[in-house]
Amino acid sequence: MVKAIILAGGFGTRLRPTSCTRPKILFPIVNKPLLQWTLEKLAKSGVKEAIMAVSYRTEPFIKQFEVSKCGIKLTYSRDPLKNPLGTGGPIKKAENLISHDENFFVLNEDIFADIDYTKILKAHEQNEEKDAIATIALHEVRKPERYGVAELTRENRIKRFIEKPLPGTAPTNLINAGIYVLTPRIFDYIPKGQTVSIEREVFPKLVKEEKLYGYVFDGLWIDIGKLEDYLKINKILLDSFANQCEREIVGVEVKKPVAFDEGVSIGEKSVIGPYAVLGRNVTVGENVRIQNSVIFPGTVISDFSSVDGAIIGENVAIGKCVKIGEGCVLGDHVKVRDNVVLVKGVSICPGKEVFESVLTPKNII
Ligand code: GTP
Repeated sequence: MVKAIILAGGFGTRLRPTSCTRPKILFPIVNKPLLQWTLEKLAKSGVKEAIMAVSYRTEPFIKQFEVSKCGIKLTYSRDPLKNPLGTGGPIKKAENLISHDENFFVLNEDIFADIDYTKILKAHEQNEEKDAIATIALHEVRKPERYGVAELTRENRIKRFIEKPLPGTAPTNLINAGIYVLTPRIFDYIPKGQTVSIEREVFPKLVKEEKLYGYVFDGLWIDIGKLEDYLKINKILLDSFANQCEREIVGVEVKKPVAFDEGVSIGEKSVIGPYAVLGRNVTVGENVRIQNSVIFPGTVISDFSSVDGAIIGENVAIGKCVKIGEGCVLGDHVKVRDNVVLVKGVSICPGKEVFESVLTPKNII
C-alpha cells in the first residue's frame, strides 16, 4: 500500500505570528484544516498511511488536533530536539516506516493542490523504466523566482533544477510544487541523522545522474507559506462555493461569498462579506463590518468595529469601534481595546494587549 510522508516540521517563519501557535498544516482553509483537505485527497488516491515528519514543536499541536483522518493511519516521525533535519533529513529518518518494495509520496505541508496523486504515481512508474528515482510535480506560475525551477527534456526528465533563481534568470516558469513520488533508492542519497535540503542537495545530484523527472499538472495550486497567499486560497475556495447557500441571519447583511462555521453569532446591522470566513463560535457584535478576512475560532469582535483584509487569530478579543486594516495579522489571544485603529500591515504577537492605535506598519512583539 502506498504511503505518504508529510513534511510538517518547518518553522513557518513567513506565516508569523499566526504560525507561532500552530503548524502550517493546521491552518484552517475555509474552516477546515489544511491537513484534512490533504488527507481527503490522499484517501481518494488509496493512501492508507501518512507519516507526519514533525519537530518537537509541531508534534503536540498535530496530535491534539481533532481532525477527521478519512481512514488514514497517522504515524509520527520526529526530528531530533536540537537538530531540525530540513526537507531531506526527515525522509531518511522515516526510512524504517516505509516499505522498501514500494514507491511513496512526499508532500510539503503547506501546499493546497488540486492534483490527482494517482496520475503522478503512474507517471513515476513509467519514468522508473528510464531509471528515475524521483518524480516532482511541476506547476506553471507567473513569478517562479520564489521557488525551485525546473527545465525539462522532451521525455520529462529534469535537465536543470535551480532553487530560487535570481530575478530574471529562471529558465522556465515550471516550479517545484512540493509534491514528490520517490523510489526507495532515494534513501541512498540522504545521509542519516543530518540536516539535508532535498531541493539544494539531493535533486541536483539526481539531475546530474539523469534520475529526476517532472510531472506537469494544471489546476489549482497554492503554497500558503505567505500570509497573502493564505488569504488568497480562502478567497479562491469561497468563490468556488459561491453557489452554496450560507445561512441567513436576521438583521444581518451577508454579502456572498462568505463561510460561517458552527456556533457563529452576528449582531444586527452588521455587514459581513464579501470574502469573510468566520470560524467556529466567532461572536460578532452589532454594526460590525468584516470583509476580505479570515477570523479564526472563538474570536469576539465588538460593536461598531471593522475588519478589512486581515487575518485574526483564535480567541482574539476586539473591543468596540476598533478599525483593523488591510494586511494586519493578529496572533491568537490578542486583546484590542476600544477605539484602537490598526492601519495597513500591523502584525501583533499572540497574547499581546493593544491599548493604542498603530498608524504605521509594524510588528508588535
Ligand atoms: P518558512 O520558515 O516560512 O520558510 O517555512 P518552513 O520552515 O516550513 O520552510 P519551507 O516552507 O521551505 O519548508 C518546506 C516543507 O518542509 C514544509 O512542509 C516544512 O514543514 C518542511 N520542513 C522544513 N524544515 C523542516 C525540518 O527541519 N524538519 C521537518 N520535519 N520538516 C521541515
